[in-house]
Amino acid sequence: MSRNSQERVLVTGAAKRIGRVIAIELARRGFDVAIHYNTSRAEAEQVSRECGGAPVFQADLSSVDEIRRLFRKVKEQFGPLHCLVNNAARFTRMDPLEITEADWDFLHNVNLKGTFFCCQEGARHMRQLGGGRIVNISSLGGIRPWAEHPHYCASKAGLIMLTKALAKALAPEITVNSVAPGVISFNDVDMRAQAMIDATPMRRPGRPEEIADAVYFFLTAPTFITGQILAVDGGLSHK
Ligand SMILES: NC(=O)c1ccc[n+]([C@@H]2O[C@H](COP(=O)([O-])OP(=O)(O)OC[C@H]3O[C@@H](n4cnc5c(N)ncnc54)[C@H](OP(=O)(O)O)[C@@H]3O)[C@@H](O)[C@H]2O)c1
Repeated sequence: MSRNSQERVLVTGAAKRIGRVIAIELARRGFDVAIHYNTSRAEAEQVSRECGGAPVFQADLSSVDEIRRLFRKVKEQFGPLHCLVNNAARFTRMDPLEITEADWDFLHNVNLKGTFFCCQEGARHMRQLGGGRIVNISSLGGIRPWAEHPHYCASKAGLIMLTKALAKALAPEITVNSVAPGVISFNDVDMRAQAMIDATPMRRPGRPEEIADAVYFFLTAPTFITGQILAVDGGLSHK
C-alpha cells in the first residue's frame, strides 16, 4: 500500500485531457481521488472507473455558490480534503480590441476568481485536518506574453501571484505551489501550437503524464517547498 493511501485529493476539471491524466496518475500512486467536472459527465464517469470507482462531483466553478456547494458535498460524501489540484480553466483566443466585458468575465470567473474560492474552501478542509497541499495549474501563458490571449495570460499571471500570496497566507499548515505547463498536445496541434513546439528547446510537445509527475512532486515534496512555480515546458519559458 502506498504512503499516500489515506490522502484525499480533489482534481478539478478531471474529466478530460490534463486533469484526467492527473487524476488517473494520482490514483495509481495511491491517492484517494475525487473527480470534479462541469459538463463532461460521461467522461468523468469513465475517469472514475479508471481510478477504481472514484467519487464524481459536478459544479460550475464560475459561481462561488456552486464552489461552496461542491466543497460541502465533497466533505460530506468523501471527507475533508488533504490535497486540492486546481486544474479546471477556460481558454479563448481573441483580438484584444474585440474582447468584451462578458468575454473577460467568462475567462476570469473560472481561471482566477473560481480558483481563488476553490483554494479558500480547500484550505478550510485542510485546516480542519491540521495541514494540506494545494497545486494550481497555471500556464506558460502566465509567464510569457501571448498576443492573442491577453485575458488568458492575465488570468494565469494572476494565478501565479495568487499561489505565492496564498503560500505565505496559509503557511505553515498548507503548501501552495503551481505547475505551469507549456504546450501539451492531444493530437490537436494547429499551426500556432506547432510554431511553439518548434521553438521549444526540447523539440517536442509535453505529455500530460509529465504535468501529473510535477503535480505529484508538489503533493509529496518537503513542506519547506511552497510558493513555487514549476514550468513544465521543455525550456520554452527561457527562450
Ligand atoms: N493544454 C495545454 O497545452 C495547456 C497549456 C498550458 C496550461 N494549461 C492549463 O492546464 C489545465 C488543463 O488544460 P486542458 O487543456 O486539459 O484544459 P481543458 O480541456 O481546456 O479544460 C479542462 C476542464 O476545465 C473544466 N472547466 C471549464 N470551465 C469550467 C467551469 N465553468 N466550471 C468547472 N469546470 C470547468 C472543463 O470541464 P467539463 O469538460 O466537465 O465542462 C474541462 O474539461 C488548465 O488550467 C490549462 O489552462 C494547458
